[in-house]
Amino acid sequence: MKTANKDPRSIGDHCSGNRTQNSSDGLSSSSSDTGHVDPLIVVAPAEQDDPLENSIAYRRCLGQFATGVTVVTARSGDKLVAMTANSFSSVSLSPPLVLWSVKRTSQSFEAFRDAPHFAINILATDQLALSRHFGKSGDDKFTSIPWSSGISGAPMLHGVAASIECRRVLEYDGGDHLIILGHVERFTRYDRDVLLFVQGRYGVVRDHPELAAKLDPDADVLNAQGPTNEFMAGLMYRAYGALSTVMTRTQRKEGFDPAQGRILGAIASYPNRTVDMLMPELYLGATVTENSISELISNGLVLMSARGELSLSDQGQARLKRLTDAIRLREAEQLDGLTNDDIAAARRVFRHLISQGRATQSHS
Ligand SMILES: Cc1cc2nc3c(=O)[nH]c(=O)nc-3n(C[C@H](O)[C@H](O)[C@H](O)COP(=O)(O)O)c2cc1C
Repeated sequence: MKTANKDPRSIGDHCSGNRTQNSSDGLSSSSSDTGHVDPLIVVAPAEQDDPLENSIAYRRCLGQFATGVTVVTARSGDKLVAMTANSFSSVSLSPPLVLWSVKRTSQSFEAFRDAPHFAINILATDQLALSRHFGKSGDDKFTSIPWSSGISGAPMLHGVAASIECRRVLEYDGGDHLIILGHVERFTRYDRDVLLFVQGRYGVVRDHPELAAKLDPDADVLNAQGPTNEFMAGLMYRAYGALSTVMTRTQRKEGFDPAQGRILGAIASYPNRTVDMLMPELYLGATVTENSISELISNGLVLMSARGELSLSDQGQARLKRLTDAIRLREAEQLDGLTNDDIAAARRVFRHLISQGRATQSHS
């Protein structure tokens, strides 16, 4: 396997979409149409190879292209065939032509190759089970699946987001697949959300966070220029407010006040520390900390050794697990609409700021 390309400039040179220029420090920087010079964001490739030498990585690379999910169906004589396919693509609007490709080793290959008509059933969000069902080989895939006959006799699935009924017009050799071109005879669209397939996973459509913010009724407040939105501390204070309100509510539902919840979490993260050693992690006053710990000890959730070291009892661990499961769920709801990359970036920023804070404290 070839190694990742480590030279940032050579990667920048391959970015055909970006105009690049050399700056005095030898790095390339991209220039937008407004003349504003942005710093070049150089990302080292995760994988780079010859597809014939590393077919698994090649599949992962292809998986970066998002598609919908279809079930292609056809009638070949008395036989009904169907398979999940994401190779579907529109080719031409006039004439209306579409294509898909069928793997030559598929059980239904001959039937699809010979059928004069086929139908593309574009699956809706709630049809994940159908995608899985028709993505497996089987002799009669239609037992217990509701369908109706289309204009050519091909099975039309119920509940789909759209269907496209085609007459087969041409086939092309596509290596281990056969490319089938169809002339669209009838299309049907339903007001349903579509199922997506990307990076080897099923997904659903969400507005891009940048666009979603514009649609947000609070967008004016969130996007206003000025000190309120300029400083990280201000933004984090408000974001923390939103997160902690939900966290506090969840803690109360689980029978804890916020101080107790925080102390339980800190003891689990840093076991066998004394109260004094734990204090810097708690951001709580001394009296609140001592009172809360006494209560947790008398409830049997926290144990204190003769040397004053704190640990969780079995019961404390079980209660903390319930609490963290509930908070994790609520937090995931609050982060909904952000990409995994956004969330990872936010975590990096928080960790960086926390470690900066520790360094500042230790120098002052
Ligand atoms: C999301 C997804 C997309 C797929 N796309 C295709 C495709 O475009 N062409 C293909 O031949 N197989 C595709 N497959 C695999 C077939 O659905 C699978 O091989 C199926 O078992 C074929 O059925 P058969 O062997 O009964 O003919 C896909 C599977 C999944 C889950």
